[in-house]
Amino acid sequence: MDINSLFDLSGKVAVVTGGGDGIGAGCCRILAAAGASVVVGDINADKAKAVAGEIGDSGGKATPVACNVLEDNDLVNLVDAAVKTYGTVNILVNNAGLGGGGRENPLKIDVDYVKRIYGINVFAPWRLCQLTVPEMKKSGYGSIINITSMSSVNKEPDMGIYASSKAALNHLAANLAYDFGPYGVRINCVGPGATRTKALLSVLTPELQEKMLLHTPIKRLGEVDDIAQAVLFFASPASSWVSGQVIFVNGGGNQTLT
Ligand SMILES: NC(=O)c1ccc[n+]([C@@H]2O[C@H](COP(=O)([O-])OP(=O)(O)OC[C@H]3O[C@@H](n4cnc5c(N)ncnc54)[C@H](O)[C@@H]3O)[C@@H](O)[C@H]2O)c1
Repeated sequence: MDINSLFDLSGKVAVVTGGGDGIGAGCCRILAAAGASVVVGDINADKAKAVAGEIGDSGGKATPVACNVLEDNDLVNLVDAAVKTYGTVNILVNNAGLGGGGRENPLKIDVDYVKRIYGINVFAPWRLCQLTVPEMKKSGYGSIINITSMSSVNKEPDMGIYASSKAALNHLAANLAYDFGPYGVRINCVGPGATRTKALLSVLTPELQEKMLLHTPIKRLGEVDDIAQAVLFFASPASSWVSGQVIFVNGGGNQTLT
């Protein structure tokens, strides 16, 4: 068996949402390093360009696309750009996601906020499945990876919207695995623990970090590459009989806010 070929994505086309920073950017880099052509979608066009440029400079193939996952036209355009530029879509990473941080008091929270979080975290990933699976089916290779969260299984105060949106995304994958499997398309989730990105750093204090590490057997917080490596597994032929699953990448523990 050729170990390298298990992780080889040469000739494959990947679309990543929120690919301009944090975990999404890490996914773009690792998928490109494995040989995939990557469409870097992000609401921030400059960040998408920077990540695509960096991949190009290191010999990979990437195209930036400005995409707010809350806008249906942007989702259609993202998938069209992948098909026009590279011919198909084989890998979809539903990474763009917002919410949480212990800021979701259920009696005070704004109705529009709730719609927005569910729109970004649940509706957009579902819609992108609808738009990309026909391409995956035609090409004979498809893998969808939803970035969810430890919050999808945790119970904490003021986290109900984010946590339930991520739980929905896990359960969506478990069910869609039945719909898409017969087409040769797999769908799985990677649930990060606390991972050092701008989103985490916006709520992290030295005291919180110390508390999180008490509940983390591997004594550090996550890095973007820790998450991207699990995404690579699901994207690649190494996981060809794995679908409908969630893997939590969390240092063996659980880094809650409370
Ligand atoms: N960092 C963590 O500790 C952690 C833990 C669990 C889950 N997650 C999940 O990982 C994913 C990525 O988080 P991160 O920490 O890398 O965030 P981040 O803030 O570092 O990066 C998010 C990226 O998404 C983009 N983005 C934001 N809104 C968008 C929209 N509407 N459309 C398109 N792009 C948009 C941003 O411009 C940014 O480039 C999210 O789904 C998040 O819920 C993160």
